Amino acid sequence: MGGSEPGRPAFPPGFRWGVSASAYQIEGAVAEGGRGPSTWDRFCAEPGRITDGNSGAIAADHYHRFAEDIALMRDLGVTDYRLSIAWPRILPEGRGTVNQPGLDFYERLVDALGEAGIAPMVTLYHWDTPQALEDQGGWTNRDMAGWFADYAGIVAARLADRVARWATLNEPMVLTNMGYAVGGHAPGRTLGLGALPVAHHQLLGHGRAVAALRATGASGIGIVNNQMPVWPASDDPADVAAANLYRTLTCWLYSDPVLLGRYPEAIGAVMPGPVEADLAEISAPIDWYGLNYYNAEKVGAPSETVRVVDGHAMPSDLPFDLVPIEGRATTDFGWPVTPEGLGEILAALRARYGPALPPIHITENGAAYSDEPGPDGAVWDGRRIDYHAAHLEVLAAAIAGGADVRGYFIWSILDNFEWAVGLSQRFGLVHVDYETLKRTPKASFAWYRDFIRAQRA
Ligand code: NOJ
Repeated sequence: MGGSEPGRPAFPPGFRWGVSASAYQIEGAVAEGGRGPSTWDRFCAEPGRITDGNSGAIAADHYHRFAEDIALMRDLGVTDYRLSIAWPRILPEGRGTVNQPGLDFYERLVDALGEAGIAPMVTLYHWDTPQALEDQGGWTNRDMAGWFADYAGIVAARLADRVARWATLNEPMVLTNMGYAVGGHAPGRTLGLGALPVAHHQLLGHGRAVAALRATGASGIGIVNNQMPVWPASDDPADVAAANLYRTLTCWLYSDPVLLGRYPEAIGAVMPGPVEADLAEISAPIDWYGLNYYNAEKVGAPSETVRVVDGHAMPSDLPFDLVPIEGRATTDFGWPVTPEGLGEILAALRARYGPALPPIHITENGAAYSDEPGPDGAVWDGRRIDYHAAHLEVLAAAIAGGADVRGYFIWSILDNFEWAVGLSQRFGLVHVDYETLKRTPKASFAWYRDFIRAQRA
């Protein structure tokens, strides 16, 4: 065990220390290198969709500045960087003609990481669907599963020899719920519970992508879910039932099919297609399981017909309601700080899946705080340090208690485009001035660097 300083938790030798980001959130350069339009370009162009009116058109301009960003990661001392590949850079129309400059860009990125001694963890899909495929129904269309697998195979054919870990999908739950059920994310559909096929088609796409990746010789394949403990608003049976339903629909719906080869409860019955045969593909063995964790959630029986999600009023007829968690510090995004929830969800995953649960990577954990450079130019984000210190303490205890967690990735290396709220929420260890695109490492950057150093010493 490293890091034996008093007050600093110790992690097993060989533990992976990383940072995460995604293509649309940092790259910018949306019309360069032959990239085709994505659903997020379209969505951001629709008035009122993004609370601050921004888009990812420039974001952190990582497309042009990746060398500088990798130099920062090298200073930070991370072992791994989780990036995503923009499908519309590889296939501008989503399928058909491959855009070689798109593959070349990611090859340069991966090679530059290799030269810096940083292992890339590559997410194939982080929500930026090629618009041409959305025009054919997007994930409501079963054909998406095959199109996604074809794309995965094309990327892996180029990069499998240099990428040790692949993630198929990022947070399919958020895409289903925000993108297709309530409409706060691209493509902005409001199908309510009618969005459930989107979950099935993504999961089928995952299973088929696993096969396509393996066919190229790729290994180290996983999926990334965001899952959290769901606390009932009270002991009232109506609240408990609502929390159970919410947990099923947001958590187990996305892991039971992958890890157990079945849908929770009666959900399989409402899914389209030959569900049993699909589940055989969906449950193809994976090598690791990605968990994104931000906070616990509290859920009760429905009390309103309109809810506010990330600043947007969302009409909803869903049979549950999110309830504020009182008595906790909140991030500047308003999210409650609940580090114990990380331990709870790790325990719940172990209890539910037992030996079917592969080794876990915490593929995202982070907090939005709006701290800006002070008069001396330094960014003091002590609240972010406290957030990570608290979560790492819980994680170390979980590992000591037998949880098989192999890595921890902070969201995010850079301030970036936070979807429906644009550039207004800053998750970075590095501050980005969106006027000048200047990068300024925050106090949390130095703190994480020292933490990693002590662990690896
Ligand atoms: C999870 C998503 O994967 C990421 O894109 C997002 O920025 C963070 N959560 C913070 O909301």
